[in-house]
Amino acid sequence: MPNSIVIDLNISAIENFIFYQLEESLMLSKRELMLETKFILQKALGISSLGLVMNKTTLISATQFKKIKTLVKKRKGGQPLAYIFGEWDFYGETFFVNRHTLTPRPDTELLIDIIIERFHKELPLKILDLGTGSGIIGITLANHYKNSKVFLSDISKDALKVAKKNALKFNQKLNFIESNWFERIEDFNFDIVISNPPYVSKNDARLFSPEIKHEPDLALFSEDYGLKDIKLICTQVEKFLVTNGLLIVEHGFNQASKVKKIFEKNKLKNITQYKDINQKYRVTLGSK
Ligand SMILES: C[S@@+](CC[C@H](N)C(=O)[O-])C[C@H]1O[C@@H](n2cnc3c(N)ncnc32)[C@H](O)[C@@H]1O
Repeated sequence: MPNSIVIDLNISAIENFIFYQLEESLMLSKRELMLETKFILQKALGISSLGLVMNKTTLISATQFKKIKTLVKKRKGGQPLAYIFGEWDFYGETFFVNRHTLTPRPDTELLIDIIIERFHKELPLKILDLGTGSGIIGITLANHYKNSKVFLSDISKDALKVAKKNALKFNQKLNFIESNWFERIEDFNFDIVISNPPYVSKNDARLFSPEIKHEPDLALFSEDYGLKDIKLICTQVEKFLVTNGLLIVEHGFNQASKVKKIFEKNKLKNITQYKDINQKYRVTLGSK
């Protein structure tokens, strides 16, 4: 804890300060606001999340307050915190990110929960993470499924560089492929093809959120009301799956019925849709 001038603000008070400052300017869910507030505090004070909980009444120094205000100002200007720090948390681990990769969203953790619920830890799964970005999905699954073989693919060379750096961080020897969806995928018989593809429509109101302007267009936007890439994946996936293999994709909260139809049209079976914590269908799964 600080040894410079202490001001009359404790961690609990500063937490509220950050939360309300961010809430004022950013279109984030309460959960995201809480996560970002916690992250700013941890970084600025150099303590763990447990440290935050244990030190709610500890006073902070003037230097720390200044640091917090600078971070909050940058964040209010729309820069995603992940880019300010060069890293972000996903499924309990910290991953490198940069302006070539999407900031990991808590919503995407649902994809991991679904897979973990369906497949036993020891299974030797063959998994393809399409549009891997920073690699969060594929690497998290590789960390969990130690006997698996995981392939990470993206059209962006720059994103793949980040994914490789993350794989190295977790000591994972994975397969990286620069590819326009399945175009350069030369392996078959995947048990799982998993993707959080771009699915935001250019007309989406979220465009007005300042932070989205800092993220790569390639990671966010898809033509055809946000559905073009999901359609491309669904039409090509069959050849790459084992019989009963799964395709699982994340999509927007208002796209569930359309995505279900796309899955049906492409003869995917046992279609199941999953709700996020806001009770919106955000993930669709189907089998070959
Ligand atoms: C929504 S981001 C998801 C990134 C990461 N998987 C995650 O969940 O945070 C979509 C990713 O798809 C990639 N992408 C966009 N178009 C693609 C295409 N035609 N083929 C392969 N990847 C593509 C982008 O570069 C981006 O990394």
